[in-house]
Amino acid sequence: MEALRLALREAEAYLATIDTDRVAGTSTFRTAEAMGGALPEHGVGALAAIRELAAAHPAALRSSGPRFFHWVVGGGTPAALAADWLASTYDQNAFAWESSPLGTRLEEIAIDWLKDLFALPPAWGGVLTTGATMANFTGLAAGRRWWAERHGVDVDSHGFSGLPPVPVFSSGCIHASATKALAMLGVGRDSVRRFAQDAVGRLDLAALEAALRELRGAPAILVANAGEVNAGDFDPIDAMADLAATYGAWLHVDGAFGLFVRITPAAVEPGDGIERADSVISDGHKWLNVPYDSGFAFVRDPRLLAGAFALSGAYLPVPGEHASFGYLGPEASRRARGLAVWATLRAYGREGYRSMVERHLGLARRLAIRVDDAPDLERLADARLNIVCFRFRPTGVAEADLDALNTRIGKALLEDGRVYVGTTRYGGRVAFRPAIVNWRTTEADVDLIADVIRELGARVLVAA
Ligand SMILES: Cc1ncc(COP(=O)(O)O)c(C=O)c1O
Repeated sequence: MEALRLALREAEAYLATIDTDRVAGTSTFRTAEAMGGALPEHGVGALAAIRELAAAHPAALRSSGPRFFHWVVGGGTPAALAADWLASTYDQNAFAWESSPLGTRLEEIAIDWLKDLFALPPAWGGVLTTGATMANFTGLAAGRRWWAERHGVDVDSHGFSGLPPVPVFSSGCIHASATKALAMLGVGRDSVRRFAQDAVGRLDLAALEAALRELRGAPAILVANAGEVNAGDFDPIDAMADLAATYGAWLHVDGAFGLFVRITPAAVEPGDGIERADSVISDGHKWLNVPYDSGFAFVRDPRLLAGAFALSGAYLPVPGEHASFGYLGPEASRRARGLAVWATLRAYGREGYRSMVERHLGLARRLAIRVDDAPDLERLADARLNIVCFRFRPTGVAEADLDALNTRIGKALLEDGRVYVGTTRYGGRVAFRPAIVNWRTTEADVDLIADVIRELGARVLVAA
């Protein structure tokens, strides 16, 4: 118990300053590197081990804090964090009803509530996953089964032998995790044909339709992107759903964070047509603000989840009245992720999430205005969602030198650590792409982004 009390004290101290802590400092990486040593022959005991771990807290990047804007990373709401602690304490195996009635029931409820939150049909199946990569894997596994069934083959039993390559079509915005999922599914990373009309990757709908037409009725898988990572663009999902219906294709939607537009009428992009898809995925550890790891996949035809993920054995339970989630997703033994998802939805409800998302959309617009008002910043995309894409562009620097300059500022920014913002290439140009996802983030946190980038930009410029 003393080790748990110590962990509680450490957690309290950690959270007490997280609103103002630097996200990273020089000691962050040094402290992590300093951890080491050989496997102890004789252990030091629980209390001493936890004390050492607590002493290493400077090495914990404050990624659950309000000034972390890199990638698309949420924090943990108090309810989700507390429930996650209990999930570890109870150590439930949400494999089946028999292994954890609590984990199974709360996952069932969590899936139902999430479908309700995102206005997805209640009859759809669903499963919690470790994140959006595994959710993409799950949705695309269902799509793969559907595709092979169209060719008269049970791919999950017999594999791909005798089947043609799987046609997978998307825009240029397809996320690397979806292509990774395709690699894991044996469909192949390079199976994806990207139909892009511009350097940003926006969908060329006419080219997509032409490719579908060329298949002459053979089935295909379409991957639609609800929330591109650099600027939050959406593919035209309704139009893709029309094409899927016309040509007989599976429509998979990666809404790792973009799915959340469906909980507010205030979003510029409403996410229409997502309810017409065959599989839809999103993340819990992004905009739902549930601690790692948490994601979810929804599939229109629940029967298809029991293809790749079916499991049987004389010693295993036979699925009954309740879902056996170990038979519906990639893992067999599984953390009871339903506890944190259930708790955060129970604690804050639809209204709590709607207001958080709306606040974040407002913060993104605020940052966009600040960027527009700054003479040395240039916005590169509309701030339609929760991401603002821009670069440092002072007068007197040639276009050809801007990429190198922004790359140097990006490096300085991560070393500085007051705000943590990543760089990307957008339309071929090096840019910053802060994503506002954390429930703690305030106007002051967001204002700091432009201020720090301008300060470091001026410094890098002088040093060059
Ligand atoms: C659009 C999109 N899809 C999938 C993923 C993968 O998510 P995860 O890291 O949770 O596996 C991300 C992560 O940033 C994403 O932005």
